[in-house]
Amino acid sequence: MRIAVAIDGPAAAGKSTIAKKVALMRNFSYIDTGAMYRAFTWYCLQKGVDCQNEEACVALIPEVNIEFKPGYVVLCNGIDVSKQIRETNVSGNVSYIASYKDIRLALVEQQRKMAAKDSVIMDGRDIGTYVLPEAEVKIFQVASVETRAQRRYLENQEKGIPCTYEEIYADVQKRDYIDSHRDFAPLKPAEDAILLDTSNLSIDEVVIEVNNIIDQKLEELKCQKE
Ligand code: DC
Repeated sequence: MRIAVAIDGPAAAGKSTIAKKVALMRNFSYIDTGAMYRAFTWYCLQKGVDCQNEEACVALIPEVNIEFKPGYVVLCNGIDVSKQIRETNVSGNVSYIASYKDIRLALVEQQRKMAAKDSVIMDGRDIGTYVLPEAEVKIFQVASVETRAQRRYLENQEKGIPCTYEEIYADVQKRDYIDSHRDFAPLKPAEDAILLDTSNLSIDEVVIEVNNIIDQKLEELKCQKE
């Protein structure tokens, strides 16, 4: 049975860590929609375009081609930008790019096409509410700002991305605000989403929880079919 799992939630809530693991275990495809907004942001910065200038950024849509390759590789116009898109200059500007409706419409169209192929786990901010409103499983993953900033700080250190904890904390707070206050497809839980607070849970505990939610849904769907 082909199903779609939407995992939404604020910045650095651990969505991608969980989604990757569950996708691997279940042989689902994994689509990191945040990486697409990040790759677009990287391109604007490369071009020297001010990310707060909506018109100038939107004008770049026809020039930007984003693809995923196995191994969580993100290509922007054929260039591997997987590492650059995690750097602080991209993180600090991506919420502006993600607030522009025309850019969202262009990327959402691609996201929906990608999701139509196989069973999929897609993570982002608006997957359950806007990109895949018919997703069989919707999870809204949250954690305190402190927990999220700490997790992202450690992750960046492991990846050798230079930053301070204070910078990350401020960035997470700023992105939460912009992502949840934009007009078009803001960050918010879908009415039928299951809220999952991961502040006091280990990665493995969250993976178990998400797998249980998926199993339960699959069981329900099976019963409905019979
Ligand atoms: O998940 P992330 O931190 O990589 O996402 C980067 C930014 O992209 C985030 O600040 C909000 C935006 N985003 C979005 O608006 N909608 C999505 N579906 C995914 C990400």
